[in-house]
Amino acid sequence: MTDQLTIALSKGRIYQDTLPLLEAAGILPLEDPNKCRKLIIATNHPHIRLLIVRATDAPTYVAHGAADLGVAGKDVLMEASSDNLNELLDLQIAKCRLMVAGPKENKPHGHRLKIATKYIQSAKSYYAAKGEQVDLVKLYGSMEIAPLIELADKIVDLVDTGNTLKANGLVPEEHIADISSRLIVNEHAYKTKFHQINEIVEKLRSAI
Ligand code: ATP
Ligand code: PRP
Repeated sequence: MTDQLTIALSKGRIYQDTLPLLEAAGILPLEDPNKCRKLIIATNHPHIRLLIVRATDAPTYVAHGAADLGVAGKDVLMEASSDNLNELLDLQIAKCRLMVAGPKENKPHGHRLKIATKYIQSAKSYYAAKGEQVDLVKLYGSMEIAPLIELADKIVDLVDTGNTLKANGLVPEEHIADISSRLIVNEHAYKTKFHQINEIVEKLRSAI
């Protein structure tokens, strides 16, 4: 018997970069989530479907077993709980770096360093490991604005080309982690649907 397999991934760059890998594994979506508003996409395999979710939600769908497999950035995984899920593959896609960045000219400040970020857990661990006490301000995007209007002294954000930092007069200062997207699996599904999942994993592995 063939079980239903559900794969959670976000549209945008993760979908664009995962598509060629899925195709190499013989999995062809029947519709393009960037062109239609559907969030559950059937594939050429009657028993494999894709769930189109927010990038930050992919680990949640997998951890709860609502999806068997998922694709998520390491940045997102470092913020999420790892209960009930395992990382199976580094897909080597959506590569970037998690960095501390700040204004070209560091202004002296008479207070604890204030860091604006979407990546609270990663920033917390990074500064704790350095033994530096900082204040963290949670933002959900456009972090680059924060140091420009003195909401924060620096930011912790993803950097790829560096264009976004440059366009906003910021410079990369400290490297926290190299980021790429990972194939994640629900622990229980990995046991109960092992052969089906493993077949896909091996095909993806050779496609990377
Ligand atoms: P959401 O779907 O919740 O709005 P998002 O806007 O962060 O999330 P994307 O911008 O597609 O979604 O980012 C998805 C993943 O791609 C990130 O988690 C990160 O791992 C990676 N990523 C983000 N920005 C870049 C970038 N500039 N270059 C390369 N990879 C990136
Ligand atoms: C990401 C990240 C940076 C930018 C870095 O944003 O948050 O702002 O990419 O890339 P760069 O170094 O090549 O300029 P994204 O483009 O995903 O926009 P979003 O945060 O609005 O999703």
